Amino acid sequence: MDVDLIQVVNRLQETFTAIGGDSVDLPQCVVVGSQSSGKSSVLETIVGKDFLPRGSGIVTRRPLVLQLVHTPAPHESNAASSSSSSPPHNADANEPQPELLRNAAGSRQATYGEYGEFLHLDKRFTDFNEIKREIENETFRVAGQNKGVSKLPIHLKIFSPNVLNLTLVDLPGLTKIPVGDQPSDIERQIRSLVTDYISKPNCIILAISPANVDLANSDSLKLARSVDPQGRRTIGVLTKLDLMDQGTHALDILTGRVYPLKLGFIGVVNRSQQDINGNVSMLVARRAEEEFFRSHPAYRNIAHRCGTKYLAKTLNQVLMNHIRDKLPDMKARLNTLMGQTQQELAAFGDTTFLGDQHRGTLVLKLMTQFARDFVASIDGTTFDLSTKE
Ligand code: GDP
Ligand code: NA
Ligand code: MG
Repeated sequence: MDVDLIQVVNRLQETFTAIGGDSVDLPQCVVVGSQSSGKSSVLETIVGKDFLPRGSGIVTRRPLVLQLVHTPAPHESNAASSSSSSPPHNADANEPQPELLRNAAGSRQATYGEYGEFLHLDKRFTDFNEIKREIENETFRVAGQNKGVSKLPIHLKIFSPNVLNLTLVDLPGLTKIPVGDQPSDIERQIRSLVTDYISKPNCIILAISPANVDLANSDSLKLARSVDPQGRRTIGVLTKLDLMDQGTHALDILTGRVYPLKLGFIGVVNRSQQDINGNVSMLVARRAEEEFFRSHPAYRNIAHRCGTKYLAKTLNQVLMNHIRDKLPDMKARLNTLMGQTQQELAAFGDTTFLGDQHRGTLVLKLMTQFARDFVASIDGTTFDLSTKE
């Protein structure tokens, strides 16, 4: 299916705003996994930007609720007429990008028109390194200097023309043994924190398991199963495939022969700590990941179903299916509204020029567009504009 999800969601949003309806509400995506399994790394590669603190030990100590907000692209002519604000050269323009955020992968500078804002601060951040520092500071401020964990979320909004309106949540990792400032019941506390997020039926769970640990010990799958027993809204993500013992591989897991999940398992290779310390860009890391799968004797044949890009694509598809599931309701609501509008227009007659008539015409136009361009393209059915139900 070749529908651009960002466009579909934006048009749906526009239409529903214009007719005064609810907006399309996409599910939240939440990452779950044991400590240092690669949760923050996966989230970052999905967004395509380098902005989350990562490292060994407990780094994510507060939930991070990351709201991606689509903003209209800056007008071409504006950019051209103002030499001081011309967009920085985007070295990745010709590269395939994750579809949730299609450019700027790995650039250390914000792309033109992209910025972040925290709920706790009245400030606009255009430097994503500063965003990372602020997350660290805010973590220290509330969860202490040591290894304490707090339930209190950090809210960050990222505004960009290249994102979908979507919420992603990064969570502290599941642990067993208290360290530093942690209370003796840390395991239970984190488990309950994570469960609060993933038990919402509208949540897509990215269950992270590191490939260098036996899947039978996967905390994320165990917890995901407790809230999604049928495995309908859980995507299995296998990280650290590059760190498996020589001579071993995870082909059986990736092909679904070990653990059943309807949405399957996707293998990824994120940046190692050494890569992060050496400032290896996301673009370079993505190329190395592709090469890893293409050249690995065990994964060569499934390379097209592996990696970060495929993960982003799968997530897009899951979101598209979610919209498709909601279409019958939307269509019914639109049909009713269209019937009412047509009756109202008929009552006004041709010669009246009331404000309402203009609004009615606009609504009708929007609905027609909506029906033609999107509903049909998404689910292959058409909307009969002549029938009123
Ligand atoms: P989190 O604690 O689950 O959020 O994990 P992080 O994303 O912070 O990653 C923990 C550490 O593992 C970091 O040093 C990452 O660089 C490293 N890491 C994560 N994924 C991979 C991977 O696929 N391969 C390698 N080699 N290292 C990884
Ligand atoms: Na970590
Ligand atoms: Mg983390």
